[in-house]
Amino acid sequence: MSELANLDWGNLPFDYIRTDYNVRCYWKDGKWGELEVNSSEQVTMHMGATVLHYGQEAFEGLKAFRGKDNKIRLFRWEENAKRMQNSCNGILMPEIPTELFKKAVFKVIKLNERFVPPYGKGASLYIRPFIFGTGYGVGVKPSNEYLFIVFVSPVGPYFKTGFNPVNMLLVKNFDRAAPLGTGNIKVGGNYAAGLKAMKFAKAGGFANVIFLDSKEKKYIDECGPANFFGIKNGTYITPKSESILPSITNKSLEKLAEHLGYKIERRKVPLDELSEFEEVGACGTAAVITPIGKIVIQDTGKEFVYTNGEPGKITKELYTNLLGVQTGDIPDEFGWVTILD
Ligand SMILES: Cc1ncc(COP(=O)(O)O)c(C=O)c1O
Repeated sequence: MSELANLDWGNLPFDYIRTDYNVRCYWKDGKWGELEVNSSEQVTMHMGATVLHYGQEAFEGLKAFRGKDNKIRLFRWEENAKRMQNSCNGILMPEIPTELFKKAVFKVIKLNERFVPPYGKGASLYIRPFIFGTGYGVGVKPSNEYLFIVFVSPVGPYFKTGFNPVNMLLVKNFDRAAPLGTGNIKVGGNYAAGLKAMKFAKAGGFANVIFLDSKEKKYIDECGPANFFGIKNGTYITPKSESILPSITNKSLEKLAEHLGYKIERRKVPLDELSEFEEVGACGTAAVITPIGKIVIQDTGKEFVYTNGEPGKITKELYTNLLGVQTGDIPDEFGWVTILD
């Protein structure tokens, strides 16, 4: 193995840090080309590219971890490949074949191996595959050319405060996605649509925002860039909605919770149920689990308080177990982890 990069591993931000290489693949004339290695951070394209005008872009986010044994472990990459195919289909971009996705992701990690953080620093390598329309035109139509890139960045914890409860604002006058829109795929437009709500919440001192379903305004939907879960009476409950992103972390937590002896319910979660939960949290690749200490309802100012400043017992148990599997501290009974050669 090459020597590790000279970084302050214990104090990495959750942000972009330049590494040595990215990998790229062009789609032209109806087919994918060869995977190319690039050391430039720049992309040059026509100013009329569909990504710049009509938002033809989709992305993924996954993590690789270095274990105690120094081996690099990649978590559930096939799930990200599948979800990216759904995203591409959703906005009429060519699917990235699973084999190409795998080759690109594994190659970019290998090429940047010295940036995979050492074990025990609370850090990991964040992998960002993305695809966008580079073909140009003026009328609204899908591009005839695309570029798929994967870059990586070593990252520290998502929140500076670490695994501690945060406060969330439940908004009523912002929607992130429509029921039959693009909320269930990972396309850039969803994130642009959520920026104003996020800014509003952050200005009020909240960590992020919880959206209600945009049709009836009755049910918990997405929780910033994460899925929501609540725990009551030994049951892990998470929203079923056609406008939220199927979170791979959430799916994994459901399996782990079941394995640990809890019941699972994936169903509509009415706003009124917030008063019944014993623990609540948000889950996603970036933060794994963000325990929620308090939810404030935007229009009424009504508050739901869940903790005394500490993450709940079951939340903590799920967090430790998931991170343990990801880093290799706990045996991977589900076949979620791929060890890189
Ligand atoms: C809107 C949204 N919901 C949920 C998630 C969590 O998904 P995952 O656990 O696959 O990272 C993410 C992050 O990818 C997201 O952006």
